[in-house]
Amino acid sequence: MAQAPELMLDTNTEPTPLTPAPAPIQRAAGQPLVADVAVTSTRQSPDAVLATYKRAPGEIVRGEGVYLVDSDGKRYLDFVSGIAVNALGYGDPGLVATLHAAAEGLVHVSNLYETAPAAKLAAALVERSFADKVFFCNSGAEANEGAFKFARRWARTIGEVKHEIVALRGAFHGRLFATLAATDRPAYRLPFRPLAPGISISERNLEDLAATLDAETVAALIVEPVQGEGGVRVLDGGFIRELRAMTKERRIALIFDEIQCGLGRTGTLFAYERFGVEPDILTLAKPLAGGLPMGAILVTDEIAQTIKAGDHGTTFGGGPFVSSVALHVLDRLSDPALLATVRENGAWLGRQLEEVARRTGRVRAIRGVGYMWGIDIMGSASHVVEAARELGLLTCTAGECTVRLLPPLVTTREELAVGIDVLEQVL
Ligand SMILES: Cc1ncc(COP(=O)(O)O)c(C=O)c1O
Repeated sequence: MAQAPELMLDTNTEPTPLTPAPAPIQRAAGQPLVADVAVTSTRQSPDAVLATYKRAPGEIVRGEGVYLVDSDGKRYLDFVSGIAVNALGYGDPGLVATLHAAAEGLVHVSNLYETAPAAKLAAALVERSFADKVFFCNSGAEANEGAFKFARRWARTIGEVKHEIVALRGAFHGRLFATLAATDRPAYRLPFRPLAPGISISERNLEDLAATLDAETVAALIVEPVQGEGGVRVLDGGFIRELRAMTKERRIALIFDEIQCGLGRTGTLFAYERFGVEPDILTLAKPLAGGLPMGAILVTDEIAQTIKAGDHGTTFGGGPFVSSVALHVLDRLSDPALLATVRENGAWLGRQLEEVARRTGRVRAIRGVGYMWGIDIMGSASHVVEAARELGLLTCTAGECTVRLLPPLVTTREELAVGIDVLEQVL
């Protein structure tokens, strides 16, 4: 059965001073969202930063609610959220208070000692998910690399040659050697070959996967339930359920990479909830610690049983400071009212984008769910991103032709409407 694209019509920062969330800005059509605020640039020598990113001009100096402010005082409605990180926006009073309180306590003691925040955070993740155990690390790529190791460790208890990892066409799993081997971006991969061996990419359809997922040799299949960097593609529920059945039957670990689509972004705490199936391993990162670097690998008891002391580690993972903050974020993102609003506003956002597509005639396709949308543009997506930024709206791309919208999960419908208005002007 072919994987059909599914149109779903449902949908980093210094602590900033505690300022009340600003009212949506009133402006004449076509006018940039410029506010009269005093800000000071602390820019020193940006050229000393290795140029791995093509950065937008200007310097961002602070954030308020769902707005960022640059050193000229220009305000931007932020539909990027630090690439799906800042789910609670900027200057959230609860998050700021938690950061202050956490800074008063232990910051780091290493994983040689037990600390309460990591234990509580692991228990909270276990309580809310399919998982029995959690490993903490510091980024998305690190979480996926660890997930590959855990899957291999488990699979070797079944068969000595069961070690292959399979990813899907359109996948993005990170920029380290194993995760890059599982990432379908030739431009990211080619300069760095040879990548880690034993990792391959399969076409995103059941016929190919049935042939590729050899029970003797394959340890794990890694899947983003909503492919983010690959163009915001919501995988079909039937396809995911078939994959679950196939991997179960062949004793292949199913890894869901929810680094971008997890923790509320699709309107459920975990994206897998919408499909009615559970993975064996799940990876999280981006929004988990409110802008502090943190990743997590959630595993079932069966996999956890095969992992012994010394099998894996990381110096900073699950430190008390970052874990205290993540506990607060997890609690907030588990709020049923917030999740319901993301679902409802997301469905509304999808309908508005369809209308924009119809009125402008400049859009090839719209895909998404919750607060995660991709708009395939006739032409270059980066031109649209640049023009929207000029008008005070931050968006990002997902491939050459797709504009990606990742608003903070606290963005109101009125704020979404301001962003849609700017997008329509640009298109
Ligand atoms: C789905 C997915 N997996 C993994 C990663 C890698 O995360 P990080 O940049 O924290 O290493 C990303 C980053 O965009 C992602 O979107």
